[in-house]
Amino acid sequence: MVEMTHQQTSVLVTGANRGIGFEFVRQYVQQGWQVIAAVRTPDRAEALRALADEHDTITIEKLDVASDQSIDALAAKLSGQPIDVLINNAGIFGEFTEQAFGSINFARFDTFMRTNVLGPLKMCEAFVPHVRAGQLKKIVSITSQAGSFGLDSGGLPGMYFYKSSKAAQNMVMRNVAKDLKAHDIVVCILSPGMVNTAGEIPPERRFQGLIEPPESIAGMIAVIDRLTMDDTGKFVRYSGEPQPW
Ligand SMILES: NC(=O)c1ccc[n+]([C@@H]2O[C@H](COP(=O)([O-])OP(=O)(O)OC[C@H]3O[C@@H](n4cnc5c(N)ncnc54)[C@H](OP(=O)(O)O)[C@@H]3O)[C@@H](O)[C@H]2O)c1
Repeated sequence: MVEMTHQQTSVLVTGANRGIGFEFVRQYVQQGWQVIAAVRTPDRAEALRALADEHDTITIEKLDVASDQSIDALAAKLSGQPIDVLINNAGIFGEFTEQAFGSINFARFDTFMRTNVLGPLKMCEAFVPHVRAGQLKKIVSITSQAGSFGLDSGGLPGMYFYKSSKAAQNMVMRNVAKDLKAHDIVVCILSPGMVNTAGEIPPERRFQGLIEPPESIAGMIAVIDRLTMDDTGKFVRYSGEPQPW
């Protein structure tokens, strides 16, 4: 059997210029991985470009997951390049008022579905050849406990589009997991916890359970490291515990 080192392993992260995506890049590059950091607007990804200046193991690529053409263009550009781990991270949360009962902006629903559901599905279709060519063969989608039916998300009222798009993403990924079993690709649905990616929150507004990005992402990387085909189609928290559907 070929002994793998992290020098040889590669990961593609969508939505990599800030928040959870950026922290995935930071931690994977520290571990010596080759990182393809996919972002909507490379010119505006200052922090990521500064990190890439320090590490030639980071490649920044342009990608809008809400555009089939953009996904196809990146898949074609990276044709023949193995990718060990694909992380579908890019997503939108939106504003509270546009998704609150009584003030729902129905015209916005399609954008949520396009970005949070069809984007990750299209990424899987387009990048199956790259992941099949990798040695680890793992696809991870970052969804949310907000999309869980089994968990009382009473702490997050409204948010109709966000919650329903994440629940739909869960169902989509369960199906992808079934379809990709034949290719020995593990598909895992990850819940990152409630992560402080919005910047500084004053202590009085911090709610119980809010964690910082390094803790969530270190947990998720440990989960990803341990994934085997037995885990395909599972919904797992960053801590490694099962997440109720
Ligand atoms: N933070 C949490 O507590 C939490 C909890 C559960 C799940 N999640 C999920 O974790 C993921 C990352 O969350 P986050 O907190 O890091 O969010 P964030 O800080 O808002 O960052 C979202 C990222 O997704 C990118 N993005 C949005 N639409 C895109 C598109 N059409 N194409 C490409 N990239 C796009 C954004 O790019 P721009 O910078 O160009 O806008 C940004 O880089 C999301 O899927 C989110 O739903 C987060």
